[in-house]
Amino acid sequence: MEKRIIINSVNEIIELGKRLGELAKPNMVYALNGDLGAGKTTLTKGIAQGLEIEGIVNSPTFTIMKIYYGRLPLFHMDVYRINQETEDEDLLEYFEMLGLTVIEWANNIKDMIGEVLNIDITIIDQEKREILIHSLNEEYFEVINNL
Ligand SMILES: Nc1ncnc2c1ncn2[C@@H]1O[C@H](COP(=O)(O)OP(=O)(O)OP(=O)(O)O)[C@@H](O)[C@H]1O
Ligand SMILES: [Mg+2]
Repeated sequence: MEKRIIINSVNEIIELGKRLGELAKPNMVYALNGDLGAGKTTLTKGIAQGLEIEGIVNSPTFTIMKIYYGRLPLFHMDVYRINQETEDEDLLEYFEMLGLTVIEWANNIKDMIGEVLNIDITIIDQEKREILIHSLNEEYFEVINNL
């Protein structure tokens, strides 16, 4: 199942993120892909709002993972610096925990993550983005349907 959404501003992507946060269930994994500056971290800030997380969510590029506590814990990963060969088994543990895992540059660890909710962000121009949300896993159909 898939849905294509056009976003025209930062505000709109935050609103989409909020919705994605509200609809998240324990154990879900949102796999974010898109070029540098596409808006993966910005979308994650919205997701955090939807999970009622109070703190400021920043890019975990250098730490690889940050945990935030809200309605569900948010495991925010940025695997830009990781590749398949690195095989960081420790990361896998988080996919089993009762929180929402959001992974920036998820394609870098594609073989580790199975069928998740894919969120592909394409830059159209300065503020316009095309967002393709898709999954083959039924668990995510309700999320996609309710966006
Ligand atoms: N519609 C939009 N959606 C998301 N970001 C937007 C939009 N319009 C403008 N921007 C700007 O684009 C930038 C997106 O940066 P962000 O850090 O979210 O991207 P990223 O995909 O996480 O990049 P990186 O690959 O470096 O992690 C921000 O400066 C944001 O203000
Ligand atoms: Mg980022």
